[in-house]
Amino acid sequence: MIFLTGIRIAGTGHYVPPMKLTNNDLAKLVETNDEWIRTRTGISTRHISTDEPTWYLGWKAAMEAISAAQITPDQIGLIIDATITSDCFTPATACIIQQKLGAMNAMAFDMNSACTGFVCAFDIAARYLATDPQLEYVLVVANETLSRIIDYNDRGSCILFGDGAGASVLTREETALYSSYFRADGTGATALYAKSLDMTSPFIDPEAEIKDDIFTDMPDDHLLHQDGRAVYRFATEAMPSVVEEAAKRAGISVSDIDILVPHQANLRIIETAAKKLGFPMEKIFVNLEHYGNTSSATVPIALDEAVRGGLIKRGDIVCLAGFGAGLTMGAVIIRY
Ligand code: UT7
Repeated sequence: MIFLTGIRIAGTGHYVPPMKLTNNDLAKLVETNDEWIRTRTGISTRHISTDEPTWYLGWKAAMEAISAAQITPDQIGLIIDATITSDCFTPATACIIQQKLGAMNAMAFDMNSACTGFVCAFDIAARYLATDPQLEYVLVVANETLSRIIDYNDRGSCILFGDGAGASVLTREETALYSSYFRADGTGATALYAKSLDMTSPFIDPEAEIKDDIFTDMPDDHLLHQDGRAVYRFATEAMPSVVEEAAKRAGISVSDIDILVPHQANLRIIETAAKKLGFPMEKIFVNLEHYGNTSSATVPIALDEAVRGGLIKRGDIVCLAGFGAGLTMGAVIIRY
């Protein structure tokens, strides 16, 4: 079944902050070593923001994508920003990026689907393009400064994550292939989380027990906590299942996919998922060695690198797949 109108990726871009944090640098902070990190995760370095807010990373990536699309910011009708590390509760990062771009004809909002964020925002963009004939271009951005919420005393998590941003400009192409499939499993909400606000206000009843039977006993440090093994298990099931279902919905078989761009969390997760799918690693784009896990930003960074590196060519069937906190998972299939 092919549903919706098709979309075309008009341009892509990415940006990472200049500072690199190597495995050896991390070995000075926690008891770990380069060999353990490389063999268990495939990661060698990550980029870390020292002075650049989340919006700044997204803005830089967006400018690159707009330039590649050969459009001007005033042609953009919608900006969707995926992030879990927004600089403000409000306004939306998308509005700040809109201001910096001068994209004054756009509606702009943020969404949070953790590491599935970009793929989910991409699908929202496709649905807007399918239903609003006035809309010509949508800018989808994913940006993260995860270093602000990482516990650099926790060797089980700090080795995984980095900062960065990616962006794509999408437009309508009536006859192009498009399919998507998304699911969430909120029963896994505590497997990967970072709390945002403390319950503080003049109206809090100090005698009453706070009505939160999910996160009350969890640390109030606002840092990212994960059950690494549980997330690993979920990821290795989620990725093959969303790719298979998206392919089914596109009316193609998984082997028709020319290139798979998955969320870059751990090389072992990608390899295990590939084996389950019966999909060759040669057709999977992997760049996590250089960036680690940048949450929502991994997929658009990888997409941009694959496009600019000539690995994705016009006409190729491309699958973007994500999974992450929530727990969430999803995939889209397009013809590039
Ligand atoms: O976007 C989604 C974000 N999250 C994820 O993708 C996380 C998915 N999970 C993973 O990638 C893996 O579970 C980890 C990389 C986090 C951990 O790898 P693992 O192979 O599952 O290791 P483990 O947790 O089973 O730990 C094995 C051992 C333990 O020692 P003992 O108890 O066997 O003595 C850990 O304490 O490795 C130890 N360990 C480390 N040793 C050196 C855990 N982290 C480290 C470390 N360096 N950084």
